[in-house]
Amino acid sequence: MTTTLADTWGLHESQFWLRGKQPAERVRHAADLGFWNVYGHPEAEEILRDPGTYSSDTTRLVPKELLEDVDLAAMSAGNLLQLDPPLHNKMRKLVSRAFTPKVVADLEPRIAAVTTEMLDEAGGSGRLELVEDLAYPLPVIVIAELLGVPASDRHLFKGWVDKLLNASEQFSLKEQSEENQASVKKSLEGQKALVEYLGEHVDERRTRPRDDLLTKLVEAELDGEKLTRNEVVNFANVLLLAGHITTTMLLGNAVLCLDTHPEWDERARADRALVPPLIEESLRYLSPFAAVARTTNREVQLGGATIPAEQMLMVWVAAANRDERVFAEPDTFNPLRDPNPHLAFGRGIHFCIGAPLARLEGRVALNTLFDRYPALRTIPGEPPKFQVNPNMTGVRELPLTTG
Ligand code: HEM
Repeated sequence: MTTTLADTWGLHESQFWLRGKQPAERVRHAADLGFWNVYGHPEAEEILRDPGTYSSDTTRLVPKELLEDVDLAAMSAGNLLQLDPPLHNKMRKLVSRAFTPKVVADLEPRIAAVTTEMLDEAGGSGRLELVEDLAYPLPVIVIAELLGVPASDRHLFKGWVDKLLNASEQFSLKEQSEENQASVKKSLEGQKALVEYLGEHVDERRTRPRDDLLTKLVEAELDGEKLTRNEVVNFANVLLLAGHITTTMLLGNAVLCLDTHPEWDERARADRALVPPLIEESLRYLSPFAAVARTTNREVQLGGATIPAEQMLMVWVAAANRDERVFAEPDTFNPLRDPNPHLAFGRGIHFCIGAPLARLEGRVALNTLFDRYPALRTIPGEPPKFQVNPNMTGVRELPLTTG
């Protein structure tokens, strides 16, 4: 048995697909947790492409006792990720123009400038902590500037987001251990602080509009009516969170893949046309957003299982991206695989709106790292640290020597 990147660095025990294993069943009921796990690529695609059968509204299944004192409806109003058609389509249209390939391409000089500034600040000591020095600040600054909140507040966001992502055990709809409840509580504290912060900015835009996305959301109309404060805040919250957590992981994961596969590091440095496919393969190989959730609107047959209505499905896109029925030699890191139909950005109506931005940030960051440093290598005795949340696959600290 060969040693995998996951074995070497002790990455999530539960993510068996990272250790060269295929699931016994593609769709499996996790009776102890109260939901269904989906691991196969065709099965995941079937779900993501059929929002009429598989709803994104998962909050309706969360047990009341888990979230006492929380107004779930208020928390999820305007959250694009939780909406179904027809409202989803209308809401998504409000921001889709801000993320077209043309608008995003125009951000390239700014992304390059931030990258250079961050690496200049990190200094030339022969070491980088890639996440702190670049992979966290770059995407958070870019999305904060788009929204119009001060990028200099990023240290505040980090504190709140770290709380939000603290849960290290698998979410459960069943037994609520004290530990589970405590971690949900902590996560909600982070969420609350972020929502209050964004609320203040939204209020300010109502009286003092600016040329930013927050103002656009405040002024936007849906069927002749303005969005509520709650909707604007939650919408902005999703953009801020989705706009940086995953991209931070993508940048770190791509560099970690190169450290593990030095032959590709050498090839990509010599031929920069390989950078975009290398980013796609990193997304397949270590998919940051490992799972997305759906709820069955009716009884369905899927992957040989019969799933009743009103069940939660955890769709493991990270496992689907290692499905040997779709990817030849799924455990081999091969940026030249073509096609590479990975599901790391999802599929269908909820396909990641920020994918062009994440890809651009990845390309600029990797090229700049290649230009500045002759080698980027992990340090024996200082292993990378990973997100503890089992639904995420990504580095949270990545100390490197820069050659
Ligand atoms: C490597 C980086 C990224 C990854 C892996 C990623 C992954 C995903 C995935 C898997 C979904 C689909 C969720 C579902 O089907 O339930 C999604 C949706 C979304 N992403 Fe990303 N994302 C990334 C970067 C970004 C960025 C930079 C933004 C910035 C704006 C962003 C904003 C969104 C939004 C708003 C949605 C919801 C779209 C909808 O529901 O219609 N993401 N993302």
